[in-house]
Amino acid sequence: MLGKLVGVGVGPGKPELITIKASKTLKSVDVICAPKARLHKPSLALTTVKPILQELERPPEILELVYPMTRNLKILENVWESNAETILAKLKEGKKVAFITLGDPMLYSTFIHTCKTIMGKCPEVEVEIVPGVTSLTECAAVSRTPIAEGEEVVAIIPSSIDLRKIKRIAENADTLVFMKGTKLLKELPKELAFCGFAESSPVILVKKSDTSREEVKTGRLGDLQNWEVDGNYFSTVIIKRR
Ligand SMILES: C[S@@+](CC[C@H](N)C(=O)[O-])C[C@H]1O[C@@H](n2cnc3c(N)ncnc32)[C@H](O)[C@@H]1O
Repeated sequence: MLGKLVGVGVGPGKPELITIKASKTLKSVDVICAPKARLHKPSLALTTVKPILQELERPPEILELVYPMTRNLKILENVWESNAETILAKLKEGKKVAFITLGDPMLYSTFIHTCKTIMGKCPEVEVEIVPGVTSLTECAAVSRTPIAEGEEVVAIIPSSIDLRKIKRIAENADTLVFMKGTKLLKELPKELAFCGFAESSPVILVKKSDTSREEVKTGRLGDLQNWEVDGNYFSTVIIKRR
């Protein structure tokens, strides 16, 4: 019999933000797959769930899967393919497999591609999703910044997209959330001025250095030029129209 695949969101990197359902799931599975960017670097998602696994008499098998940080589609497709095969082999042994992701599994996560590839190969695999606290809502919480009120519109923008596209989006949104790093941040004050944002528009930068350290910076769009921005990938920026 085929096993079951569970995409488990483990929150933004703080063990206390792991949901009860995620914790119960991790205690019930045979295998935990943990994505990481480099072979010799720890998986942040795995580090986050370590306190839960330490409680177990018989911990699950851990498979750390490398997903390199690249936009080269050929490389990525090869990686999705080989990691999907690794997971599928466990599912074919009848095992219950959790694939853990930081934040929520349905928001910009490696789980999405991996799951699609597995489903393409074996559509009969049962899949369950356990949602997680996304980094976006955690950033709003630590900075006490409402993401939206009333009829405000929110746009979630990967920092890697083209500036022209960002401007088109910004014209129609009240809150801009930039994920996947801080590229183009210094250019935003000038460009967003054309979209109705002002020098006084609030800006929040939340940067995660590792699981224990977090930097929260708050200011105004006009201050951005003077901020030291190091391009850390684990950064989220919230910019509010007012
Ligand atoms: C590949 S996306 C994954 C998003 C994740 N699935 C979620 O729901 O938050 C990675 C991006 O999430 C954001 N991120 C994840 N953890 C974070 C944290 N602890 N602090 C700030 N931003 C974080 C950063 O923008 C990072 O570039």
